[in-house]
Amino acid sequence: MTPTGNTILITGGGSGIGAALAQRLHDAGNSVIVAGRRQEALDETIAGRERMSAVTLDIDDPAAITAFAARVLADHPALNVVINNAGIMKLEDITAKRDLADVEATIVTNLLGPIRLIDAFVDHLKMQDGATIVNLTSGLAFVPLTAAPTYSATKAAIHSYTVSLRRALEGQVAVIEIAPPGVQTALTPGQETRPGYMPLDAFADEVMALWAELPPSNEILVERVRPLRNAEADHRFPETLGQLNESAERARAAGNA
Ligand SMILES: NC(=O)c1ccc[n+]([C@@H]2O[C@H](COP(=O)([O-])OP(=O)(O)OC[C@H]3O[C@@H](n4cnc5c(N)ncnc54)[C@H](OP(=O)(O)O)[C@@H]3O)[C@@H](O)[C@H]2O)c1
Repeated sequence: MTPTGNTILITGGGSGIGAALAQRLHDAGNSVIVAGRRQEALDETIAGRERMSAVTLDIDDPAAITAFAARVLADHPALNVVINNAGIMKLEDITAKRDLADVEATIVTNLLGPIRLIDAFVDHLKMQDGATIVNLTSGLAFVPLTAAPTYSATKAAIHSYTVSLRRALEGQVAVIEIAPPGVQTALTPGQETRPGYMPLDAFADEVMALWAELPPSNEILVERVRPLRNAEADHRFPETLGQLNESAERARAAGNA
């Protein structure tokens, strides 16, 4: 993928990381389509920007993905980059029997959603110059947050899927993983201002700088996420697991006080 002149689809483009990356990619000279469930949020992201468009999508609905892909490809036949960014995060107590609705929703949105979206676009992407698939995982793919076990598991699964996809599509479609650290967005209640989480603009700026590096990297890892990404390889997994979960508990407690 060249830095400019691409036609890029990004899911979850109405808020947080998706909106911040969509606007920076647009600033860099790309056409960008943002997708998500809330039309007003998407409209806010694209306001006043030519070469940006918004299409509603509920990624939980397989039929909606099929119709969405047909519409996007009819309107944007030059589409060559798909960024799977939409996601949800729910805190769970897994120490007692409970309602598993949040568990099922998390797997549908975070795991089945990207797999279905990739399936809908892969045949088209293989025919495009500079074709690229980008999957958003998380530092929690590598060291889980025990208060969000299903979320962490879906991100570990998407990391693994991304590795397979990269190898399978080698020479046809580049496959990139972005694994963010904790970033100040509305992903969970109170997170937009939670101390210790990375400010959104700083995160998005660092991602864009890393993305521009040559040769291109398979994984875009801001400095702050590297201790999680490398914990196992550096033989620091047990202590990193403890530190991550203790500091997250403290941050949530401070937010609730
Ligand atoms: N913030 C962090 O600390 C952090 C850390 C690691 C990874 N991430 C990942 O980064 C990605 C973006 O999250 P964020 O932090 O920017 O949070 P966010 O602001 O809540 O963004 C999530 C986006 O996903 C969209 N979405 C959720 N369910 C959807 C569905 N069923 N269909 C279509 N779109 C859906 C939402 O839009 P609608 O509600 O309009 O549908 C929203 O714009 C997620 O994959 C998240 O797991 C975030």
